Amino acid sequence: MAAAPAPEAKTLAAFEAAKGFMPVGEGLALYAAAVEAGALGLPLLEVGTYCGRSTILLADAARRAGTVAVTVDHHRGSEEQQPGWEYHDPEVVDPEVKLMDTLPTFRRTLHKAGLEPYVIAVVGRSPQVAKVWAGEVGLVFIDGGHTDEHATNDYEGWAPRVAEGGLLVIHDVFPDPVDEFTGQAPYRIYLRALESGAFTEVSATDSLRVLRRTGAGI
Ligand SMILES: C[S@@+](CC[C@H](N)C(=O)[O-])C[C@H]1O[C@@H](n2cnc3c(N)ncnc32)[C@H](O)[C@@H]1O
Repeated sequence: MAAAPAPEAKTLAAFEAAKGFMPVGEGLALYAAAVEAGALGLPLLEVGTYCGRSTILLADAARRAGTVAVTVDHHRGSEEQQPGWEYHDPEVVDPEVKLMDTLPTFRRTLHKAGLEPYVIAVVGRSPQVAKVWAGEVGLVFIDGGHTDEHATNDYEGWAPRVAEGGLLVIHDVFPDPVDEFTGQAPYRIYLRALESGAFTEVSATDSLRVLRRTGAGI
């Protein structure tokens, strides 16, 4: 069996240096999925940019495939990233408006990685962006809000855009409630995707699940 495509050392170093939550093993699985999906020649779409850690990998895969990564975030942080919560980082609070703003850090991250030309960053709420997005994509990576409302909106908004043979990747899938810190909503949309009959599981790497569109609908 051929080895999974891996990012160049420079890209991996940029990923490891970036602020964010994705461990290297999951990052490598995401990268391999993105390279595979890139062969469809369609955009690779991410919900949940944060500071660009996973975006680096999608951007590099897009560069290899001659396509583009689109990443969507309102940059105000998820529930668990707000002050007083476990994943809060005071370094990404805008001192003037006193709200989280991960956009400047994201832009610096992408610039340092040399991957700006391969990314379209959309600042907005995922369901609103999904509503005005018309085209098919080769890959959807869902790593946004972890409430049922957000995860369901992300699934219903973006999974329909995955082209035949394209990939749906979901992060933070924790089948056992003991393992989860931020809720099992990603697990529930993962189950829904499988139960729909439209997606078939390709791989599982820790909490990252890769599914392929093998049928119509969601
Ligand atoms: C877990 S972080 C993403 C981590 C990132 N993928 C990484 O690898 O570091 C989740 C992000 O989703 C964003 N988010 C949450 N709900 C959202 C929504 N409804 N629309 C857009 N972005 C949202 C938050 O602002 C946050 O930056």
